Formats: sequence, C-alpha cells, structure tokens
Amino acid sequence: MWHEYPTLAPELASALAMIEKQITTNNTPVAKAIMEMINGGGKLLRPAYCLLFSRFQDVDREKMIALAAAIETLHTATLIHDDIIDKSPTRRNQVTIQKQFGPDTAVYAGDYLFVVCFKLLSHYASSLRSIQQDSGSMEKILKGELDQMATRYQTKITIDDYLKQVSGKTGQLFALSCFIGAYESGSSPTFAKNAEKIGMNIGIAFQLLDDILDYTSDDDTLGKPVCEDVRSGVYSAPLILAMQRNRQAFLPLLAKKDQITDAEMNELRQLVIHHQGVEQAYAMAQKRTEQAIAGLQKLPAGAAQDDLIRLTQSLLNRKA
Ligand code: IPE
Ligand code: IPE
Ligand code: MG
Ligand code: MG
Repeated sequence: MWHEYPTLAPELASALAMIEKQITTNNTPVAKAIMEMINGGGKLLRPAYCLLFSRFQDVDREKMIALAAAIETLHTATLIHDDIIDKSPTRRNQVTIQKQFGPDTAVYAGDYLFVVCFKLLSHYASSLRSIQQDSGSMEKILKGELDQMATRYQTKITIDDYLKQVSGKTGQLFALSCFIGAYESGSSPTFAKNAEKIGMNIGIAFQLLDDILDYTSDDDTLGKPVCEDVRSGVYSAPLILAMQRNRQAFLPLLAKKDQITDAEMNELRQLVIHHQGVEQAYAMAQKRTEQAIAGLQKLPAGAAQDDLIRLTQSLLNRKA
C-alpha cells in the first residue's frame, strides 16, 4: 500500500521495528502473540498521518518515528481488547489473540501495549501537552465504546448517536495522530488544532467505510469477520440509514438478536442495500472526506500536502 509514498514507507517500517524493540517481556505467550499482531499487516494509517503532518517542519525524524510508533501501539492495544469484547476470531487475516491464547493473555497483551505506548510517549514527546492530548483521546475512545455498548440492540438508535460513538471510538485516534504529528514537529498550536479537526473527519469517513465494507465485502478480503456487529447488537450507519427508510422491514430480523442465522443475516444485508443504506452511508463518507480535503487544501503547498490529500482521497476507494 505504501510503495506509492516512497518517503513514508521506510519511516513506517522503522516505526514497526521500534515497536518490536520495545517488546521485552520474557513472558513468551504474550510476547509471541504481540509480535504476530504487530507484524500482521495492519494498514499503518494512523502512524502515516502522524508522520505526514510532521513534514511541514524540519524535525528530528527519529523522534517522529517513535511518536508514530506510540500511536500504532495504542491502536493495536485497542484492537486486541476490541477483539475480546467482540469475541472476534480473526483480524489482519490471522487468528486473534483472544481466540488463539484466550482472553486472559489478550487482556495482558493489550495492557502491555498501553505500557509501551506511554513509555515511548514519555520518552520522546517534548511537552506534557502531548501526553495530556493522548490521555484525553484515550478517555474519549473509551467513552465512544461505552456509549456503543449502552445502545446495543436498540433499533431506535439514530445516526447522531452513531456519529457521536464513531467520533470517539475511531475519530479520536486519527485526530490524535494528526495533532501529535503537527504539534511535536514544532508547528503552532493553532496549526495542530486544525490538524486535529482534519483528522477527526478522516477518522469518521474511515469508520463509515469500514461499516460499509461490513455489508459489501467478505471475511477473506477484510481479514476479519463481516456482519459480526449486527449479531452483537452494534447497529452501524448503513443499517441505521436503511431503517430510516423502512423500519418495519428490519424488525423481524433484528428481533432474532444474536440467534440470527447466516441465511437471515444475508437477507438483512440485502435489505440494507435495497433501502439504500450503503449508498447513503457512502455519501456521508464522501462528505466527511471533502471536508477533510478542504482543510488540507489550506495547508502550505508541497509534498506533505500532496501526500495527505492523495492518501485521504484514496481511502474512499479502499476494499479492505
Ligand atoms: C480497525 O482499524 C478498527 C477500526 C477503526 C475500523 P484499521 O482498519 O486501521 O486496522 P489495521 O491496523 O489496518 O488492522
Ligand atoms: C474498533 O471498532 C475500534 C476500537 C478498537 C476502539 P470495531 O469493533 O467497530 O472495529 P473492527 O470491525 O473490529 O475492526
Ligand atoms: Mg468493537
Ligand atoms: Mg470489533
């Protein structure tokens, strides 16, 4: 994915190597599980945004690579814990830690990565402001997840509820990545706050696409199971928007809750598509992407701006 960004690719590889170097626990199952997850072929989007936003200044690259590594570590920790909560069997085309080693090891593996994240941050960040921003983001991610849990199986969930949850659980980490990249490289606080706002729109668009792929893709392409959300009562944009058109059509299927069969799930998918759930969600993703790009277009012209715009635009076409 990154060969079209020749200055970025080697820095992302260095960020991964830096995370690996930090995994020093001698607890073999935990270390082994983490290594496999780190090398599992994650897209590395959040560190990429952090590094791209640092390119508007002349700054020590090692420092920025370490901070990008801290962000990817935080992301990976949330995924490991998310897979426990979602009881998910696969991620990044491999068996999840919770499935392979059990939830205990997965809790510790995620915790360990939170520690690594803070070790990297506290060592490389030049200001307390970044640590505050990071812990503030973590709090909002958690809040997004808790709100999502609180509305499970609620067929009256609104698109605003969804957007609030998604701003937390996904938008925040993209916003943080852009903020840290800008702020820690020496750009002004105003520039960094602007980067944060752009990152939020990118993150929301990203999650909308992720939720669309849940209805239009398959397990093998995504490397993680599709339609697990509906089964566990998490209703995302395509379903919410389709239900706005014809709520009654969905109620019998949703009433099955986690007992819904594969055939019924397929029926639900078709209904969501039939009632333009996917189309409407895609229009929302396009709008968020346009807002992000409008923000990016106001940044100083040059290679960093070009790459940011190209990357953000390309995420609308992603298939996995
Ligand atoms: C998965 O994020 C979690 C969501 C916010 C949808 P990514 O799709 O970026 O995960 P990896 O890192 O590439 O596996
Ligand atoms: C992942 O959310 C977001 C966080 C880990 C905070 P999801 O549960 O929607 O993402 P996937 O589909 O498992 O990647
Ligand atoms: Mg989840
Ligand atoms: Mg999940």
